[in-house]
Amino acid sequence: MKERSNTLKVPFLDLKTQYESIKDEMHHSVQKVFESCAFAGGPFVTEFEKTFAAYCGTKHAVGVASGTDAIWVVLMAIGIGPGDEVITVPNTFMATAEAVSFCGAKPVFADIDERTYNINPELIERAITPRTKAVIPVHLYGQTADMDPIIKIAAKHNLHVIEDACQAHGAEYKGKRAGSMGIAGCFSFYPGKNLGAYGEAGAITTNNSDLAEKLYTFRDHGQQKKYYHSVVGWNARMDGLQGAVLSVKLKHLNKWNDARRKNARLYNNLLANVDGITTPAEAAYAKHIYHIYAVRAANRDALMNALAQKEIYCGIHYPIPIHMQDAYRFLGYKKGDFPIAEKCADEQLSLPMFPEISPEQIKRVSDEIRAFYMQHAELIAL
Ligand SMILES: Cc1ncc(COP(=O)(O)O)c(C=O)c1O
Repeated sequence: MKERSNTLKVPFLDLKTQYESIKDEMHHSVQKVFESCAFAGGPFVTEFEKTFAAYCGTKHAVGVASGTDAIWVVLMAIGIGPGDEVITVPNTFMATAEAVSFCGAKPVFADIDERTYNINPELIERAITPRTKAVIPVHLYGQTADMDPIIKIAAKHNLHVIEDACQAHGAEYKGKRAGSMGIAGCFSFYPGKNLGAYGEAGAITTNNSDLAEKLYTFRDHGQQKKYYHSVVGWNARMDGLQGAVLSVKLKHLNKWNDARRKNARLYNNLLANVDGITTPAEAAYAKHIYHIYAVRAANRDALMNALAQKEIYCGIHYPIPIHMQDAYRFLGYKKGDFPIAEKCADEQLSLPMFPEISPEQIKRVSDEIRAFYMQHAELIAL
């Protein structure tokens, strides 16, 4: 039974409050799409592509239909296919590996750094074989991977670096924006992301103009001119409506990311001395934008259930690492192959985090966590 009380309910995410704050601006912008009927690709997408490229500090941004498409289209465009291997992490959303599989290539995993939860550059080299063609660091939760050593190893072995920046809109590595460091950066605008569409959408950023040309062609059935197809491509276009929505929201992104950073600092302070909790670390090189605020929690599931009883809703990103998913049993990995990623999957808990969450809500979440471990001291054994 849930405890019904007068206390503040805390959702994991609240898209409605944000929508209310930009409603007029949004309606005005979306109405223009309806009036011009530019629904598939078109000027609203082009306008967003221009501003998003400038925001990321890249020459190009190519709008696509989702983050999954973004990764897959890049891999196809750089010629990854059957017989090739692509290195990534086991603690990511399934789409990173799926995109590799959908090219006919094989995802190969490297374990993560226990502090940042991102790929451990020291483990990449061990995973390289003569078939390796690319590495996909995932900027998990909104913090970039340690890109300098990754780029150095990739250059030494002649590998492409593709950033999975699907959770890292506006995140920085030594002052450079996510998506501007590899041959391409792949973004998801799934509604709950820091920059979220009102539907599905994604984008690819790149400084490589030849690659950009291929991406524009590939996402539109391999045609540069209507009905003249130079290659076999796909329909991975972005909707006009999503282009207009994203252009409005991009103007607010820095403010929203700053609010998330402020919220993370408050959580960090309030949870600093709670036995049983490890708060997330921001690496010296990083500007973390806290798409997800994930703590490590002793007896995570018990804590999560206790919080849910009090109407505080958390998430787990992700409960089963990719190498342990049924879908990838054929790769032949087993439990223990990536011990850090596996440990994190058992311990991580994503607390409510969105720009508009109030300090009172953060305090309530933190107080309830503290109370839980005070009442159940026997559960604090990480
Ligand atoms: C790390 C990561 N990669 C890829 C994706 C796929 O993006 P989409 O859901 O837009 O296809 C996501 C989205 O959740 C993600 O978080």
